[in-house]
Amino acid sequence: MAAIPRLAVLASGRGSNLQAILDAVAEGRLHARVAGVFGDRHKAFALERARDAGIPAQALRPRDFASRSEFDAALFAAVAAVEPDFIVCAGYMRLLGAEAIAPWEGRIVNIHPSLLPAFKGLDTHARALEAGMAEHGASLHFVSADLDGGPVIAQARVPVLPGDDADALAQRVLAVEHPLMISALELLCTGRIRLRGAAVEFDGQVLQAPLQLAANRLRA
Ligand code: GRF
Repeated sequence: MAAIPRLAVLASGRGSNLQAILDAVAEGRLHARVAGVFGDRHKAFALERARDAGIPAQALRPRDFASRSEFDAALFAAVAAVEPDFIVCAGYMRLLGAEAIAPWEGRIVNIHPSLLPAFKGLDTHARALEAGMAEHGASLHFVSADLDGGPVIAQARVPVLPGDDADALAQRVLAVEHPLMISALELLCTGRIRLRGAAVEFDGQVLQAPLQLAANRLRA
């Protein structure tokens, strides 16, 4: 690993998670360097945030490629060129193929707005409301070929409140999603979190349940 771990960030949209990473790096809360930002939409605000921070940002257009695997191959070639230690999917909204992920196993993570394994996929907030959940949240997990199905590293929980709509709930989740991601990335970058087979190891012990964010700190 580089002395200061290098991160490649994948993002498709507004990039608030990317911004949280950039801020945490700038403020010394995350001991890492963002080596490049990559996406699938030229107009994504995330790319602008990266460029504003002086970080190389690049989008590839899926329709310029004959297949998903060709797109993934080109994207991951660009990612590999910045020599990242870890890849962070931070609001990257496109499926990643098993072939692209395989070489990065244990070094690629995703932030997902639900308490996995509940509500994989899209529209998690509306689905949590519809299901009448009392609690909702976000998960940071290792990426596997199974969509939103890789081993969960850490979670942050929020209550579902009377009168919530999907937007209100999304905002409450986003407020914990950012510190969750930063705390978990710091553990990953310092080698305290590792993937071991299909399990997550924390300080050398296999976790029986995801770490939980409480008062802005992760605990077993
Ligand atoms: C976040 O809620 C993330 O969990 C989900 O998409 C949203 C992206 O937000 N995968 P942003 O682009 O980081 O602001």
